[in-house]
Amino acid sequence: MSYRLNAHATAVVAPPIAEVQGWVRGRSFPASKPLIDVAQAVPSEPPAATLRAHLAARLDAADMSLYTDILGLPALREALARHVSEIYAGAVTAADIGITAGCNQAFCVATAALAGPGDEVVLTLPYYFNYQMWLEMQGIRAVHLPVGARDALPDPEEARRLLSPRTRAIVLVTPNNPTGAEYPPELIGAFHALAREHGIALILDETYRDFRGADGPAHGLFRDPDWRDTLVQLYSFSKVYSLAGYRVGAIACGQPMMESVEKIVDCVAICAPRIGQEAALFGVQHLGRWREERRQIIAEKLATLRRAFRTNDPGYELVSAGAYFAYLRHPFAGETATEVARRLADRENLLCVPGSMFGPGQESYLRFAFANLDAGLIPELAQRLASSRG
Ligand SMILES: Cc1ncc(COP(=O)(O)O)c(C=O)c1O
Repeated sequence: MSYRLNAHATAVVAPPIAEVQGWVRGRSFPASKPLIDVAQAVPSEPPAATLRAHLAARLDAADMSLYTDILGLPALREALARHVSEIYAGAVTAADIGITAGCNQAFCVATAALAGPGDEVVLTLPYYFNYQMWLEMQGIRAVHLPVGARDALPDPEEARRLLSPRTRAIVLVTPNNPTGAEYPPELIGAFHALAREHGIALILDETYRDFRGADGPAHGLFRDPDWRDTLVQLYSFSKVYSLAGYRVGAIACGQPMMESVEKIVDCVAICAPRIGQEAALFGVQHLGRWREERRQIIAEKLATLRRAFRTNDPGYELVSAGAYFAYLRHPFAGETATEVARRLADRENLLCVPGSMFGPGQESYLRFAFANLDAGLIPELAQRLASSRG
């Protein structure tokens, strides 16, 4: 007789990006119509040359093969705390920062610290699929808060109606994956007030904060001296510094929660990969100009994308777009998002993620991680969408 598996894990969907990538695995593409891959949100360019040179030089150091402190290199926690305090004009200390093996792990440890089986966590819909999957595997009920059809923004009053005595947190992702929507500071403030009123956490995933279009701080929550009672901020070093495979992210929260985070990180990873932490430290300390350049490059890509849709209507509606992503409504009524996405992969050599992977009610949508693309390919992307209709 074979062993039995945890039913919570077997019931969860297969990793969505791997499934989408499987659609083109083993295929080769003609030079006249190369693969345009806007499925996974992963920077296509390597990290800065100075960062790579720094890591190469550090590799011989005796401490490079050792574990770091569970919550990360003190210098990185210090540098990130200073950086966060600066960009939000707030007060964050090194003790408020924990380093994790990517933002996904930051979310897992945050929710494990806050909630257990039978508890509830509010997720905006469409959601970032890994968060839904993790909650399901933990036996935590994900309660969905649909965003507005026109602006892709969640409504705090609608969220209020979803809260129950079992609710432990509301999760917001801004700029959003998959919609690209940037939540205005006042909206984030309203969710913070709602969470505080109910004695629950506001988990704010700001993985894409370096690519915001708006100037000024994304929100004023760190200016509140009591932010630690409510706010849990998550961050990723993957995108802006091109460090996705180095696995490094961060969590900012108050002390009682950080003690639980430390226990959980100790068990699952002992610490985030040291080489990733060294890379992140270099990034925070030395790559301010690089960050600003990435922001500008991606803003130009977004402008190119909008222009391509305006001047050459591809028949797909750009529902929302910003930071890293565009969320499109496809024109094929009655067809599932997966059918449409698979056909784009098969016939147009265009790989994107069907909306249905981001939750129920998303069959009309497709997600494009346009920021991956060379700007020169964006008109070609619009062209292929147009030709998919004919
Ligand atoms: C919203 C969001 N959070 C977290 C992550 C994971 O980031 P990391 O590579 O730091 O684990 C991603 C990656 O795509 C993401 O889109």
